[in-house]
Amino acid sequence: TDLYAVAGNPIGHSKSPLIHSTFARQTQQDLLYKALLMPLGEFAAKAEKFFQHGGSGLNVTVPFKEDAFRFATTHTPRALRAQAVNTLKKMPDGSILADNTDGVGLVRDLTLNHQVPLAGKRILLLGAGGAVRGVLQPLLEQQPAELVIANRTVSKAEQLARDFADLGCVTASSFADVPGAFDLIINGTSASLGGELPPLPLTVFKDGTVTYDMMYGAGRTVFNQWAHEQGVTITLDGLGMLVEQAAEAFYCWRGVRPDTATVIQRLRQERR
Ligand code: ATR
Repeated sequence: TDLYAVAGNPIGHSKSPLIHSTFARQTQQDLLYKALLMPLGEFAAKAEKFFQHGGSGLNVTVPFKEDAFRFATTHTPRALRAQAVNTLKKMPDGSILADNTDGVGLVRDLTLNHQVPLAGKRILLLGAGGAVRGVLQPLLEQQPAELVIANRTVSKAEQLARDFADLGCVTASSFADVPGAFDLIINGTSASLGGELPPLPLTVFKDGTVTYDMMYGAGRTVFNQWAHEQGVTITLDGLGMLVEQAAEAFYCWRGVRPDTATVIQRLRQERR
């Protein structure tokens, strides 16, 4: 039996053990998946111990994604761009490979689960923290016509736009001065945690605008509720992204793709 775990602080509410155990059952993979609460500042020591004691792979969540990036020996290209990782894998030679599957999770949820096209579209991405950095490369690989990053601290959006400029048309903006209307608006800020909204002009909306909140919870998120009140008919939350990033990590570890639809459905039902 191979051992996997998710590491974070806090970790009690993580859905990863349920998701990965379901994937394992579904694909008949013999593995055990646990939740590890790691003390702040001790990621490297605890991760070292986990892999020394037979661990095969680790998922990493808040606040250790940057620590995990530094801990790893080698990185996938998208992990290098993200500078933060959610997946570590012990390789046969003992080295630790790091990947970031968040962006692929987002793209797969949008395009496969919800049939939201990205190629040739105008996309607005709100926020410029780790969550947004982690999804930029996979989003730009879908070749949107334009991707605008808007953030409260504009300089952080400008830095991201520079860092990813070679991958496509990516520009930075303040919330108030966001240019034009968008096919898709993705909320990657943590503003909704405090019940706050990014102060966007209503001109960002047009017929058919879709919103996507990387957060999820019971019922609509604060951001999606606001979008709904402005007439947006398709308001998506991050539950699908959560399951898809897990599936991509599972694929990285085991080489098999689990079925995500049934797991997403089950989590949605449990949440009601
Ligand atoms: P994460 O890992 O979730 O991305 P982070 O790196 O701390 O966390 O980034 C949080 C993001 O949410 C940032 O873009 C932050 O804006 P600033 O860069 O200006 O700090 C954004 N954010 C947090 N609270 C916000 C609020 N009340 N209104 C608007 N944006 C907010």
